[in-house]
Amino acid sequence: MMDQYIGSESFQRDKWNLVYAIHGRRTPWMQSEIPTDLLDRFITLVPPASRVLDYAAGNGRLANRIRPFRSTVAADLSFFALSAATDQSLLKVCTGTALCFRPKSFGGVICWGLLHHLRPESWAWWVSSLTIPLVQGGCLLIGMFDCSDIQFVNEESRRSPTTKMDTYCLRDNHAEMLISDDLEKIECETLILRDSGRENARTWRYVLARRRTP
Ligand SMILES: C[S@@+](CC[C@H](N)C(=O)[O-])C[C@H]1O[C@@H](n2cnc3c(N)ncnc32)[C@H](O)[C@@H]1O
Repeated sequence: MMDQYIGSESFQRDKWNLVYAIHGRRTPWMQSEIPTDLLDRFITLVPPASRVLDYAAGNGRLANRIRPFRSTVAADLSFFALSAATDQSLLKVCTGTALCFRPKSFGGVICWGLLHHLRPESWAWWVSSLTIPLVQGGCLLIGMFDCSDIQFVNEESRRSPTTKMDTYCLRDNHAEMLISDDLEKIECETLILRDSGRENARTWRYVLARRRTP
């Protein structure tokens, strides 16, 4: 079977719990924000009255931004991440797979900052598992490191000092490859994110797609 977790699910969970135990609510990636206009476009594409799944939600910082507009569920592998949620009323699910959610039960799925921590050979599996909970016509937003991101210019920073886990990045042709036959591309672009903590511009790639109707 393909190694979609690198090691095993429980190995990954221990690693991420360690990250949150060390950083608490102030994890390094929280210093760069997903742009409001992109989040707005995603929300607009989510059918009204349907729910959004924020998969690999961390402490739910994105879920909190979506909730005023669509009912939102935050899912993460790490119990420590979810317990760092600033809003305790956020609906949270501790899981290592989106397949635990009922097929076609969400109008939108967002997965921001997960795939670059998983091996590229497993990405197609992950995209497919994130598509299954989507209704037809529902919208998927995936964001991850781009190969020109500052973290990848320096070889050493590709390996997390906390977890010792390698990180990967999305190279030019990969973004299109993430779009399976079930999905229709809406946007697939590079983003320059301001990182307030590290005072660097970060370079990310995102894919915004819609689940095809038959
Ligand atoms: C870089 S953080 C991004 C968190 C959040 N999306 C954000 O932007 O603040 C990656 C998150 O993925 C979670 N994660 C790692 N592997 C996972 C898996 N197999 N299933 C669900 N979550 C996972 C980690 O616990 C961590 O919270």
